[in-house]
Amino acid sequence: MKKLLSLILVVVLVGGLMIGCSSTDTSAGGGQPSVGVTIYKFDDNFMSFVRRAIETNAEGKAELVLNDSQNDQAKQNEQIEMMISKGVNSLAVNLVDPQAASTIIAKAKKEDLPVVFFNKEPSAEDMASYDKAWYVGTTSSESGIIQGELIAESWEAHPEWDKNGDGKMQYVLLKGEPGHPDAEARTTFSVQTVVEKGIEVEELELQTGMWDTVKAKELMDAWIAKHGDAIEYVICNNDAMALGAISSLQSEGYFTGDMYMPIVGVDAIPDALVKIEEGTLVGSVLNDAANQGKATVDLALNVAAGKDPLEGTDWTLDDTKAVRVPYVAIKLDNIQVAKDCYGE
Ligand code: BGC
Ligand code: CA
Repeated sequence: MKKLLSLILVVVLVGGLMIGCSSTDTSAGGGQPSVGVTIYKFDDNFMSFVRRAIETNAEGKAELVLNDSQNDQAKQNEQIEMMISKGVNSLAVNLVDPQAASTIIAKAKKEDLPVVFFNKEPSAEDMASYDKAWYVGTTSSESGIIQGELIAESWEAHPEWDKNGDGKMQYVLLKGEPGHPDAEARTTFSVQTVVEKGIEVEELELQTGMWDTVKAKELMDAWIAKHGDAIEYVICNNDAMALGAISSLQSEGYFTGDMYMPIVGVDAIPDALVKIEEGTLVGSVLNDAANQGKATVDLALNVAAGKDPLEGTDWTLDDTKAVRVPYVAIKLDNIQVAKDCYGE
């Protein structure tokens, strides 16, 4: 019995030591390249999915140094300096301010450190200024065009949505962050596409809700108070703001009885898919967080090891050194496409 007890003790001790060893190994990076990542703010609905995809794809391959820049460019600059001094092998940067790319590039260039920007696209000029800078994102205009097609198609299928019967679509538009290429392009191209389809439009309101649910709800509350049922369509640069608009409209009695308001968004995040299924959101445009996160890690890892950014991947670069993941229109009939992307 004593022998058995001491045997158990030995097993437990050795086992404990082994666990101790392996955990020390991982915390040291185990020889894996380290990638310094900044997200413009963790508290952004869509970016939380991109972040998750980055973490998943880096598992077992890279040591990530993850930073929440808390929507503060000065803070992000400091974080980048800190990561450079820690000796990261590459940077993956989701800018706070797209105009700040040149500052970051200057810092990286000094150390000959490769940088992969993602989600907020730097200007073509900034991208061209450093041969070790790449971008992972989308073609911003594509999301606006697809959203415009969704709006036009649904408007034509529902003549009753022209509530005042004047043959025009009176719309309000919730814009993302001004100066963000996605916000600018979605705002322009969504409406332009509707007009090109031969639909007359009248803008009742256009303001920025900064991609944010709470801000969008406040704006929508004010617009309903001002225009009421004169609003015939709510166009949102992203789903987070569409969710805010929906909750505002719901508190005014919409989506019960015969009170209805068509709304469209972009991203096709899981919370928005629920609204499509409920019938409070006409549709959305899938912004493929899973593949953008994957491409960011693939490129950042390759360049960290001094390899060609595309080595061993299926991505392609355009002439601005950008990987552009396509957008997809999402309605009830193909909602599974978006669910698959977000792993639902
Ligand atoms: C997304 C938004 C997000 C923004 C952050 C856009 O591509 O559609 O939901 O807030 O990126 O930069
Ligand atoms: Ca009308």
